[in-house]
Amino acid sequence: MASTKSKILTLLEENRGQTLSGSDIAKKLNISRSAVWKGIEELRKEGYEIHAATNRGYSLAESSDLLSAEGISLWLTNPAITKDSIHIYKSIGSTNQEAKKAAVAGAGHGTVILAEEQTEGRGRRGRSFFSPKGKGIYMSVILRPQGTAEEAVLTTTAAAVAVSRAISQVLEIETRIKWVNDIFVGDQKVCGILTEAVSDFQTGTIESLILGIGVNVTTSKKSFPDDIRKTAGSLLPTQSSVSRNRLAAAILDELFKLVDRLDSEDIMNEYRARNFVPGKQITVHCGNEIYDAKALDIDSKGGLVIQKSDGSIHTLRSGEVTIRTK
Ligand code: BTN
Repeated sequence: MASTKSKILTLLEENRGQTLSGSDIAKKLNISRSAVWKGIEELRKEGYEIHAATNRGYSLAESSDLLSAEGISLWLTNPAITKDSIHIYKSIGSTNQEAKKAAVAGAGHGTVILAEEQTEGRGRRGRSFFSPKGKGIYMSVILRPQGTAEEAVLTTTAAAVAVSRAISQVLEIETRIKWVNDIFVGDQKVCGILTEAVSDFQTGTIESLILGIGVNVTTSKKSFPDDIRKTAGSLLPTQSSVSRNRLAAAILDELFKLVDRLDSEDIMNEYRARNFVPGKQITVHCGNEIYDAKALDIDSKGGLVIQKSDGSIHTLRSGEVTIRTK
């Protein structure tokens, strides 16, 4: 059962920017006016910017951009995700870590964990992911796949396509993908994806995949830590208000459209078309190995086909590459 506070928030989100009178809200929700007032006060305490106009009522400010299950579900079109499967934290160590715990405890396919900030956001290859409060989308999605390791790789590929599509739809910003799943605007990385598997220790099968997506939405250039400031960017670095709820919903919608048809050639074709690595001189970082190569192509399973300097051709299924400029 949704709480009174949640019902009020849904009404305000549905009518964002418009004033709703206390008695209208009370009538619609079949509650007293004092219950409305109490709910509004609770929401304000949580940080929602709710304006009150004397004798006219309440409105949720256009500029109020807190993540909420109510705000996200308003934009969702895919029934695979519901308001109740979205969990929002004000602050958390890592949403991936929390999602893993939830998956082990039995949380189902389509469970989503988001946070306003992460204090120990994790990136690939043991790096951290800078996740300042209110500036991005830090989200982990639990998927219960059919089981193959190949599917895990394809899921990662599909996620990069889903995020790119969502950014284009909501913000009209065109992005490019850097193998395997970094998202770039120009030469700045604006999103990273970390896919982790929860396996059954005894059978070795993948029980669930945790798809961790970190999008820098309004993080300012100067706030990034020194070591990434040159290469990291955000989608709207100079804008303070944007609907992160809407962007998160679009990512989820696109993602769940794709995860049900992972073997579709269209997804890989789109991934390939958006990827800017093929054709480039690269440095490969794979385990302890580091070497130069030329990127040739992306194969049907998302592997990066490369040519080493001795002329031999290989396909990378994991690892990371950097583009060489000279
Ligand atoms: C990378 O670029 O190396 C991957 C970054 C992935 C960051 C996201 S933010 C949400 C989720 N929780 C984490 O701790 N990491 C992922």
